[in-house]
Amino acid sequence: METVVSGIRPTGNLHLGNYFGALRNFISMQNEHNCYFFIADYHSLTTHPTPGDLYGNVRQVMVEYLAAGLDPEKCTLYIQSDVPETAELYLFLNMNAYIGELERCTSFKDKIRQQPQNVNAGLLTYPTLMAADILIHKATKVPVGKDQEQHLEMTRQFSNRFNRLYNVEYFPEPKAFNFGNELVKIPGLNGTGKMGKSEGEGNAIFLADEPEAIRKKVMKAVTDSGPTEPNQAKPEPIQNIFQLMKVVSAPETLSFFEDQYNSCNIRYGDMKKQLAVDMVTFTEPFRDKIKAISADNDYVAKVMRLGKEKAHESAAKTIREVREIIGFKSF
Ligand code: TYM
Repeated sequence: METVVSGIRPTGNLHLGNYFGALRNFISMQNEHNCYFFIADYHSLTTHPTPGDLYGNVRQVMVEYLAAGLDPEKCTLYIQSDVPETAELYLFLNMNAYIGELERCTSFKDKIRQQPQNVNAGLLTYPTLMAADILIHKATKVPVGKDQEQHLEMTRQFSNRFNRLYNVEYFPEPKAFNFGNELVKIPGLNGTGKMGKSEGEGNAIFLADEPEAIRKKVMKAVTDSGPTEPNQAKPEPIQNIFQLMKVVSAPETLSFFEDQYNSCNIRYGDMKKQLAVDMVTFTEPFRDKIKAISADNDYVAKVMRLGKEKAHESAAKTIREVREIIGFKSF
């Protein structure tokens, strides 16, 4: 049994990228491992949400975790800010995280481009906070999408550096994980890049989306005028539609449209109609459960209290030991 940690930022409803990159793994790992899954609300402060949005989104992600099948008895489900030991470890790790390596981080460079008016220190030290989340429970496995790979590399760097500095073998070397062994990147619907909330309107399909909303978004997905030669390589927007079909549709459906593409008979309108039907079917079980759980305030609050208690117990032990290693001892 290994210790597993992962989290999702509360920026709104969860989308299919979150599901296939992370949540799907959480659901199966809770049965075999010692798992801590949290809502990364400290991390979301880098974009300055209003208190109302933050509160609502934290609750929504917890509801969706539960609706997707996470069981608070099998794993520890908690809110990052309910465990302030994380913030203390973040402070310690920042003391031996170097500006140069933080500035070279791809996600930092992306953020500078996306929000040049708000390049705050939280963005720069985002990877040390993430390392603190993982190391506070001494996790060895971290289920994440492809976009988090570099952050995990940095976590290993910080972990090893701490051990070397204090000449201990305290923190493990956590590894990014996805079953199927390859980290995934689920594309969005607007032709380029990954599915994501900040990637523009209509780019993401949410687990909570109503069927009509899914149909509208899928039918608007970017395509082109179609292949002109048999077995032609697919341009990115077309690859993306096929990739999405691969994750939600039956293998026969995918191979039917592959054949149509390769013989230049494809009609993207038909393909998108089918993709929309399969996405509606795929998200169906989530929709009803999200509504039911969201209506049960007492249950959601109880889950949050239980998670806080369990996560705190593990985090407090680590912080006690880390303080001792660093040399903070009582006089
Ligand atoms: P976040 O909130 O951006 O995304 C949550 C998880 O969903 C995955 N993901 C995707 N995977 C595949 N394709 C996509 N299009 C896609 N979009 C999102 C992400 O890889 C991630 O696993 N920094 C993290 C949250 C975090 C964390 C941690 C994760 C904070 N501390 C400690 C693991 C361990 C983040 O911003 O993810």
